[in-house]
Amino acid sequence: MAENEIEYEAKGTYEAALEKSRQIEEDIKVNPSKYRVLTGDRPTGRLHIGHYFGSLQNRVRLSKMGVPTMVLIADYQVLTDHDAFDQISQNTKQLVIDYLAAGIEPGENTIIYPHSYVPECNQLMLPFLTLVSNSELSRNPTVKDEITKSDLAVVNAGMYTYPIHQACDILFCKGNVVPVGKDQLPHLELTRTIARRFNKKFCKKTPPVFPMPYALLSKTPSIKGLDGSAKMSKSLGNAVYLSSTADETAALIKKAKTDGERVITYDPVNRPEVANLLMLISLCNGQEPEAIAASIGDGGSGKLKSVLTEALNEELRPLREKRAQLEKEPDYIRQVLTEGAGRAREIAVKTLDEVRSAMNMVI
Ligand code: TRP
Repeated sequence: MAENEIEYEAKGTYEAALEKSRQIEEDIKVNPSKYRVLTGDRPTGRLHIGHYFGSLQNRVRLSKMGVPTMVLIADYQVLTDHDAFDQISQNTKQLVIDYLAAGIEPGENTIIYPHSYVPECNQLMLPFLTLVSNSELSRNPTVKDEITKSDLAVVNAGMYTYPIHQACDILFCKGNVVPVGKDQLPHLELTRTIARRFNKKFCKKTPPVFPMPYALLSKTPSIKGLDGSAKMSKSLGNAVYLSSTADETAALIKKAKTDGERVITYDPVNRPEVANLLMLISLCNGQEPEAIAASIGDGGSGKLKSVLTEALNEELRPLREKRAQLEKEPDYIRQVLTEGAGRAREIAVKTLDEVRSAMNMVI
């Protein structure tokens, strides 16, 4: 396909994605059955409160609204930016425990599965690879960023092609809403490009096979690490995990970075660390961060930290209790995954049939 024939959509600015996300958010309340949510995580470790407030709560809310929800565990994707693979299965099971403890309920409407168990989904990779150019793959900003941050000895081809695999994840089930963070927007744009090109090239005489999926951007501001760094992450040791104990939570918050000013105010620009802690309290108790700051007043960092410790441990207590119970039920966790994979496969087989027939490959 010549470069000038490639249909570019109105170039994906963040504002356009945000606007679309707001529209979906409104419509989904009225027409939940028009949508299918596909979301997922790489099984690289346990989930922390950044995931909980940023995406988990949103997923639970959507599935409770009656939107069919597919929760995918992207185990193959771990191989693209990690050399180590010894923990994948264990991490997958811990992810399921985190999901269930947070309130995701597998059943009629919601399934959880690892994509490595859905061969028909993975097979979409072959036609999709032919719909994208090398240069499109190498200019993906999220991929470039991950290459810079990874400690891979060699940058493998999977690193460049996993966004196509992500398109397989989304399109095999005809997902049209993908709750993600800003960093995943380039992958969503590529997924739409693939869907559009597939429909245009192969579905001239038949209805289009794939819908256009859009991001549902979380309204929660991104949560910084407790050491004040830009992101809460396992490798920086600045995260409170859903699986942390109340004491571990208290210890980490005690070490959290603040500033020397005694009077607590909510000032995200000039006092980002204090603002982050206030925001976390706000996410737990629903009060405005300004009001929380005013009530702490000249109690200083000590008071701020004790209020946060109590609010967070209180918020997470039921989840942690459920988590501890689920840890004792490995057979059930395995069953959730195998049943989920079975259901995902049924969907994938149907889509692959349509794809095969559109591509003129039925024998
Ligand atoms: N790339 C995502 C991440 O790193 C994980 C992922 C894989 C995903 N496939 C997906 C997310 C499909 C949403 C939809 O977090």
